[in-house]
Amino acid sequence: MTDAKPIGPKKLFIKTYGCQMNVYDSERMAESLGATGYVPTDTVEDADMVLINTCHIREKASEKLFSDLGRLRPAKEANPNLKVGVAGCVAQAEGEEIMRRMPLVDLVVGPQSYHRLPEMEARVQGGERAIDTEFPPEDKFDHLPERKAMRGPTAFLTVQEGCDKFCAFCVVPYTRGAEVSRPPERLLTEARNLASRGVRELTLLGQNVNAYRADGYGLARLIRALAKVEGIDRLRYMTSHPNDMEDDLIAAHGDCPELMPYLHLPVQSGSDRILKAMNRKHTADDYLRVLDRVRAARPDILLTSDFIVGFPGETDEDFEATLSLIRKVGYGMAYSFKYSARPGTPAAEKPNVDSAVADARLQEIQALLSAQQRAGQEAMVGREVDVLYEKAGRLPGQMVGKSQHLHAVHVTDPTGKVGELARVRVTAAVTNSLAAERLA
Ligand code: 5AD
Ligand code: SF4
Repeated sequence: MTDAKPIGPKKLFIKTYGCQMNVYDSERMAESLGATGYVPTDTVEDADMVLINTCHIREKASEKLFSDLGRLRPAKEANPNLKVGVAGCVAQAEGEEIMRRMPLVDLVVGPQSYHRLPEMEARVQGGERAIDTEFPPEDKFDHLPERKAMRGPTAFLTVQEGCDKFCAFCVVPYTRGAEVSRPPERLLTEARNLASRGVRELTLLGQNVNAYRADGYGLARLIRALAKVEGIDRLRYMTSHPNDMEDDLIAAHGDCPELMPYLHLPVQSGSDRILKAMNRKHTADDYLRVLDRVRAARPDILLTSDFIVGFPGETDEDFEATLSLIRKVGYGMAYSFKYSARPGTPAAEKPNVDSAVADARLQEIQALLSAQQRAGQEAMVGREVDVLYEKAGRLPGQMVGKSQHLHAVHVTDPTGKVGELARVRVTAAVTNSLAAERLA
């Protein structure tokens, strides 16, 4: 008798932290390893390979990673053939250190090298430890297999990666590298391919997506071209920088019906002094003027943003300016974060705001943003919206999907089907979602 595992396909467990781009990357990594015979599993105990796709944007990313890795020790002891890999931005920033501190790690791969995973996996199977955190000249997407697995009517499409903006607090320009845009022809092919598998809504991803520029296309022209793809009914994009909201993109919000009335446009702070220290290269007023133009093009647009509180040097007055900007705009939703010093960024050299003060500001900003979100949801009650069904709800006869404004909506619709775009009437606003009934 041996306790060897039954022969069968190798199993891959992926844990994903961070942004949508990491979600997209994890899918592409699963597909890439799928081509070498891996199938997904959702338990570590069952896995032949565990990949942790990390995020470095805010604090404790590496602590979290090291504690995740520590927790894998028993699994590795139980199954010495288990391979452990680290991907994503922490891999990029701290790959060598991870290898040194964690002997159980077999593989470290940075975000630009995912197409090399099959070859790295083969080396790992041969007993080597493999690390690749280069920014290779070739485009990883040219070397990743075509997308096959489709789980629903919505999909992410990475159109741009990297960032040249160098906000003083941010690691992205270091971990993801310079801005690179994928050629429009490739994106159109990928979109057609996704549409043929039932995808109706695409969210175009990029760290600085509205800086998209390739082969004479900017983001607006790309959106207009994707809108013509048969089967694609809805488009969104994120994340954008205010300085790249060009006229044609704003115009597209007014005249491209496939472009959904939703814009995530981070401002980070409402204080000009802090914006300058953050190296944002715009004032609060510049930002508000961009929003005015977007709202003129699409009056019902839902606006969202990111805010950082407790950036070095932020006074009560600066924070008040942020609250005042939020009151002026009226956000449908927004994220707010306590500043965390990221090693290697210019702001990390500056003295921190007192932690308790930053915590109090975070609570205050979150209370204001939640109240605005709630008011926005309540204002939807009684209105008709279109919902793209993503899955069946937990209650019988219920479907769940997103409205044009990206509100999650639970619809009473006993005959609804996944992938259907349904006209519904909103009947109530519940925590974080809307309830609705199907219209004939
Ligand atoms: N500290 C806190 N928040 C940060 N973000 C980026 N870097 C930091 C940091 N060092 C936030 C910004 C950005 C979002 C993705 O994460 O608000 O828009
Ligand atoms: Fe980071 Fe966004 Fe600033 Fe780029 S624009 S440096 S990704 S916060």
